Amino acid sequence: MDKVRLGVIGCGHMAEVHLAALLDGPENVSEELRQWLPQIEVRGLADVNAEKAETYLQTYNAEYATTDPEDLFNDPDIDAVLITTWHDTHAPYSLRAMECGKHVLIEKPMAMTEEECDDILAAEERSGVKYMIAFRCRFAKGAQDVKREIPKPDNIIAHARTGGIWPETIWAQDPIKGGGQILSQGCHVVDMMLYLADAEPESVYATGGVFHHSHPDVIDTINAAIRFKNGSVGAFMGGDGGVGGLLMHHPLPNKCPFFVMVIDKGRSAIAIDHGEDARFESCVPEEEWKAPYDSCEYGEKLGKSVASGLPNILPSFAMSILKDEKPIATAVDGARTTRFILRCFESARTGEVITF
Ligand SMILES: NC(=O)c1ccc[n+]([C@@H]2O[C@H](COP(=O)([O-])OP(=O)(O)OC[C@H]3O[C@@H](n4cnc5c(N)ncnc54)[C@H](O)[C@@H]3O)[C@@H](O)[C@H]2O)c1
Repeated sequence: MDKVRLGVIGCGHMAEVHLAALLDGPENVSEELRQWLPQIEVRGLADVNAEKAETYLQTYNAEYATTDPEDLFNDPDIDAVLITTWHDTHAPYSLRAMECGKHVLIEKPMAMTEEECDDILAAEERSGVKYMIAFRCRFAKGAQDVKREIPKPDNIIAHARTGGIWPETIWAQDPIKGGGQILSQGCHVVDMMLYLADAEPESVYATGGVFHHSHPDVIDTINAAIRFKNGSVGAFMGGDGGVGGLLMHHPLPNKCPFFVMVIDKGRSAIAIDHGEDARFESCVPEEEWKAPYDSCEYGEKLGKSVASGLPNILPSFAMSILKDEKPIATAVDGARTTRFILRCFESARTGEVITF
């Protein structure tokens, strides 16, 4: 196999973002991944909305567009699917794709319930296909530098309190289609926290509730304390209803108040804005600890697209298939993140410490 013939399910915003890697030029993709770009072909496009399904037909020279994802699952000339639909379809489409022997690249969150996580983990093992979650923070330059510089932090502080109150009318805030803002956006920061912690969570205690929305089941505020199995500790604060501008000018340069700060024996580092940027500080006397860039210069020095790492996701998936390598984020990582968030909700509802 020397090509990855791709089917895309859900032809909206994130499909466009991922497919742009094929159009925007190899300079946006890291040197080791560039070679895989010509190996990716877009063959079929599916969306429940026929007009959406047709959107990228010409741009990517695809063979067909359809409103029925079954056409892709049953197409013997499709090797892999990119799933960029609403959250309630992530698990059913994942399971169906794996049943049909297709490799899967899926947007976050992988699943909405623990049962769905278990089913996907079992199917991944049974099918032997590559199953990768598009957890973008793992590809972002700032987060990668923080991980390299402080690989085993003893304290990890994650913040995903977005600016503004999510409108109740958007699909991601719907309890069935999306699960709310914390599952939808907080999962970026939870994955970055678990990636940078390099440890499994052992227990979590969370307080929170519904403060900005009308639906009683969609928790919109979580403040959680975490103990990791290696003895380190962490905190996760997630939700909406914050004001992004509070953190905009100093010390965070960007509009998105998503960050993970890690601390280890006098050294601190912070991965900011989906990990696209980073800062490093040491209070160890006379320590020479050189940060890769001056304060918050990632986007400026590397270019926004390269700093984000987003264009690396699709070629990284293709590489894992063609070289038969483990993807950067597997179903194990997807399940860990969904479980963590659901157990924060459980703790907030019951007042109990939840163990993993
Ligand atoms: N990584 C990021 O930074 C980021 C940003 C935004 C969204 N996302 C994720 O990407 C995914 C898609 O979000 P989006 O912003 O592209 O949404 P979107 O609404 O722009 O696109 C989703 C598309 O899926 C289609 N769709 C819905 N249900 C379907 C079904 N049953 N079968 C086939 N098609 C269906 C919709 O018609 C729509 O065109 C979500 O998982 C979301 O959480 C990730």
